[in-house]
Amino acid sequence: MSPERHAPTTVLPVIVTTAAELGARLDAARAEGRTVGLVPTMGALHRGHAGLIRLAAERCDVTVVSVFVNPLQFGAGEDFEAYPRDLDADADLAGRAGADVVFAPPVEEMYPRPIQTTVHVDGITTVLEGAFRPGHFDGVSTVVAKLFALTGRCRAYFGEKDWQQLAVVRRMAADLSMPVAVIGVPTVREPDGLALSSRNVYLSPAEREVAPLIHLALQAGAQLVADGETDPVSISSVMVSVLATEPAFDLHYAVAVDPHSLVSPPAFHPGDEVRLLVATRLGRARLIDNAGAIVGLPQTPYDRKADTTCAGA
Ligand code: PAF
Repeated sequence: MSPERHAPTTVLPVIVTTAAELGARLDAARAEGRTVGLVPTMGALHRGHAGLIRLAAERCDVTVVSVFVNPLQFGAGEDFEAYPRDLDADADLAGRAGADVVFAPPVEEMYPRPIQTTVHVDGITTVLEGAFRPGHFDGVSTVVAKLFALTGRCRAYFGEKDWQQLAVVRRMAADLSMPVAVIGVPTVREPDGLALSSRNVYLSPAEREVAPLIHLALQAGAQLVADGETDPVSISSVMVSVLATEPAFDLHYAVAVDPHSLVSPPAFHPGDEVRLLVATRLGRARLIDNAGAIVGLPQTPYDRKADTTCAGA
């Protein structure tokens, strides 16, 4: 597993397109006692992905970045065809961040025939994103289960921006005893608070200008929780009122939920962890974001920093 060097400061990862080659390389690495880190992506890599890759590369001997736009997780009328694809740019960014291997299989390698077996995580997949994107999480858990099977024993790094996805993948790996440690990594943001997302490219300049209101709404909700508010409806209302100041948002939800069950209890209690989740359409883009807070525990500058950097795991 020796990545090809083409300039003193740049390391090109090996690009692998078949499951057989990926398995052979990773089995050989593990046979030598090397650990494997996996960063599953759909490409269009940005600084948020780079943070995940850097963390994997720091913690693991061999880092694999998968780049696969998974048709199973797109619904009718969603942006599967339009989803940005640029493998050269992705391999470049992945290599600079420390990836050794980019696994970029064609669709027919991942799904050589119509799939008859899918993975369904019950309960947490039908609410929030699941309610707006029926079947989406079955597509995600099925492809992630395949990526885990093809990669083998590893640590897998996922961004907290997709909080519900992270909860679904964690639950799947635990329920099915997969030999994978699932690690969530804090969201990376633009200086004005907008969470990095491959879909931000869909925003017009005017939409980009108002998009940071999503983070402001989450911060307002988090502040209320930190101040001791226990009523999920009141917390939701404050987030809704921030977003209502901008008519360009078509708000899908702004909720305060238990971070694991993703359900709003009748009331939170002092010391409870709360996850605030927002989804909104803004022009062509559908944006999601989230933040955490603890009831009655003042938000420290450290908490705010942890939400804006990629440190820790
Ligand atoms: O978060 C993503 O990019 C995708 O949902 C994932 C986890 C790579 C599965 O296709």
